[in-house]
Amino acid sequence: MIRGLIFDLDGVIVSTEKNHFLSWKKIASSLGVVFTEKENESLKGINRRDSLNIILELANIRLSEVKINHLLNKKNELYKYSLRNLNKLDILDGVEDLLLEAKNKNILLAIGSSSKNASFILEKLKLTNYFNVIIDGTMVTKHKPSPEVFEKAANFMNLSPKECIVFEDSASGVSAAKEGGFKVIGVGNENIKLIADVYLNSMKEFNLSDYESVV
Ligand code: BG6
Ligand code: MG
Repeated sequence: MIRGLIFDLDGVIVSTEKNHFLSWKKIASSLGVVFTEKENESLKGINRRDSLNIILELANIRLSEVKINHLLNKKNELYKYSLRNLNKLDILDGVEDLLLEAKNKNILLAIGSSSKNASFILEKLKLTNYFNVIIDGTMVTKHKPSPEVFEKAANFMNLSPKECIVFEDSASGVSAAKEGGFKVIGVGNENIKLIADVYLNSMKEFNLSDYESVV
């Protein structure tokens, strides 16, 4: 039986992946690096520091810790500024209906996100109260593609990976879920079509009743 749903945040609940992309693009261009959607694909799901490391590798440059911290802060400022008007209308189609349906069926709900802004975003979307647990980038020692974030969420809910479904839009997140033994549904990013167990263009295509008797 599926007893828990674990949601990635950026790109699954809300389309903030594009805000991450545009903020990193500004940082990259300040370093003289060409940064398109193609390069951005490898950053999806990856935590802030590891993302900057990927950009620095693309640029083939090394920076001091001070400069690195400055860029990380700058990126987060740009990102948060871009979210200043974020609100309930930005929740992706099908998400809140699914949260409601699952709650009514006593299925447990979790967030498993690499973001340190997860609680801030969920508050803006007024979704916080749906979740039994929110595991974010401040609570793990190993980041996606490590399964730690999903394992912590499942442990908190007292469920085994086999009793959960993970929803992800990133290759790193799909790998993390698979590594942890979770069933993973890829959503909204065609690049993960072949690696996810099931792929959906949008959360609104997900039908909970298809999974209720899955053992
Ligand atoms: C993930 C995003 O959810 O969070 C990444 O997919 C992002 O693009 C990462 O870099 C870290 O987010 P934040 O908000 O802590 O910078
Ligand atoms: Mg994501």
